[in-house]
Amino acid sequence: MGVFALHVVDHPLIADQVRALRDKTTSNSDFLRLAEEVTRFLTYEAFRDAPTVATTVDTPVVDAAPAVRVEREYLIVPILRAGLGMSPAIQAILPRHRLCLVGLRRDEATLQPVVYLDGLPKDLTGASVVVCDPMLATGGSIVRVLDMLTERGARGVTVMCLIASAPGVAFVRHHHDDVRIITAALDSQLNDVGYITPGLGDAGDRLFGPPVS
Ligand code: PRP
Ligand code: URA
Repeated sequence: MGVFALHVVDHPLIADQVRALRDKTTSNSDFLRLAEEVTRFLTYEAFRDAPTVATTVDTPVVDAAPAVRVEREYLIVPILRAGLGMSPAIQAILPRHRLCLVGLRRDEATLQPVVYLDGLPKDLTGASVVVCDPMLATGGSIVRVLDMLTERGARGVTVMCLIASAPGVAFVRHHHDDVRIITAALDSQLNDVGYITPGLGDAGDRLFGPPVS
């Protein structure tokens, strides 16, 4: 039995940015900027308890002032495509990291995820993994990636998203009870085609435009 945690950030400025992300008139470039800004805040919140080691730093004023350093290396896993709207912000904040890509496409008829790229290392024993995807809808895509990660030995993965649905979170918890989910908003439902409601639409399309068919 693991420890499941759901953290929905509570900050008026983040709520305002989520409003702008939801707004259907927001342009691609503003959407990307907002996604990155919200992700920065989520990252600080998610790693509030990051382990630190004591060290010293030479400042222009004094040598060997007491300081801390984050030495842990994090494996950042954006789920393509839309996760690429979040990963640069996480990379900018976690001082030591490695980035590996997983490509998934949700089949919009069955709502099942289809893996088209597996860029994960074969052995993830002991790795500190951060998965990012703006949308946790049915939860199928996140569960598929968590399956891939745990099959390779990862435990206690952190999942970061912009909007999660309550049924999707319950689905993830049912399959992986030792995951931490951090999100900027929790919406109560999915519509009849599996979209988060009210949601923000198709995050990949809003970041990058519709896929080439
Ligand atoms: C979206 C989103 C998630 C997934 C969520 O990706 O970015 O990966 O759907 O749905 P789920 O929780 O029901 O599995 P999509 O498959 O549309 O691909 P894209 O990022 O390439 O647009
Ligand atoms: N994928 C998205 O991008 N948005 C949703 O609401 C559901 C799945």
